[in-house]
Amino acid sequence: MDLTLKIWRQNGPQEKGEMKTYPISGVEEDMSFLEMLDFLNDKLINEGIEPVVFDHDCREGICGMCSLFINGEAHGPGRKVTTCQLHMREFKSGDTIYIEPFRAKAFPIIKDLMVDRSAFDRIQRAGGYISVNTSGNTIDANAIPVPKENADKAFDAATCIGCGACVATCKNSSAMLFASAKISQFSLLPQGQPEAKERVLNMVHQMDLEGFGNCTNTGACEVECPKGISLENIARMNRDYLFASLSSNK
Ligand code: SF4
Ligand code: FES
Repeated sequence: MDLTLKIWRQNGPQEKGEMKTYPISGVEEDMSFLEMLDFLNDKLINEGIEPVVFDHDCREGICGMCSLFINGEAHGPGRKVTTCQLHMREFKSGDTIYIEPFRAKAFPIIKDLMVDRSAFDRIQRAGGYISVNTSGNTIDANAIPVPKENADKAFDAATCIGCGACVATCKNSSAMLFASAKISQFSLLPQGQPEAKERVLNMVHQMDLEGFGNCTNTGACEVECPKGISLENIARMNRDYLFASLSSNK
């Protein structure tokens, strides 16, 4: 395949970036999108040009590191796939492909296509955990009955990989799909109840501090989420937040 790549190049967080054009030949349709970028970088290195910086780790759709806006869509044209699982057979020879970083005020660009998503880590740290007594008297988790419907919904919420596509896609740069998934995975289970009120209050507070926008129910996040996280989680988080605010002394 012969392609024309238009790639965002930016030297650092404070630098001015621009789209640069890279024609490339010999791309195979069985390459993943990231393998195609590796192929490009080999070519750039051989030509003495600085390679394109992009984020990746597992390349299996698990870690949430690959975060590219491809032809105006987070993770590209596929549905429920991450950039690392996108293959070049989705494109055809002669195509021009626009590749940009995830853009949001709370995700500053580090270099080229790599952004800093540590705001997500700080939201997680604000309450995305449960405290369990591990003194030896811990109740076996399997001994606590959980309704099947709640177990399924908690598991679905737990599949969020923290990629940030929801933020990059939202016109308000809202992180509510992410935060609501991280809260729901505990709020639906008995083990999440002791800290439930503090969790939702603290995580929503941290989300606001990080500079993410609000949710205006357009639903774009759900469409672009590679893990199919449901908007139902946002509604649950809003209910839990209201209840916790009304019954808290904070
Ligand atoms: S909710 Fe979906 S799009 Fe948002 S961070 Fe989680 S997996 Fe990514
Ligand atoms: S590199 Fe891990 S999800 Fe894509």
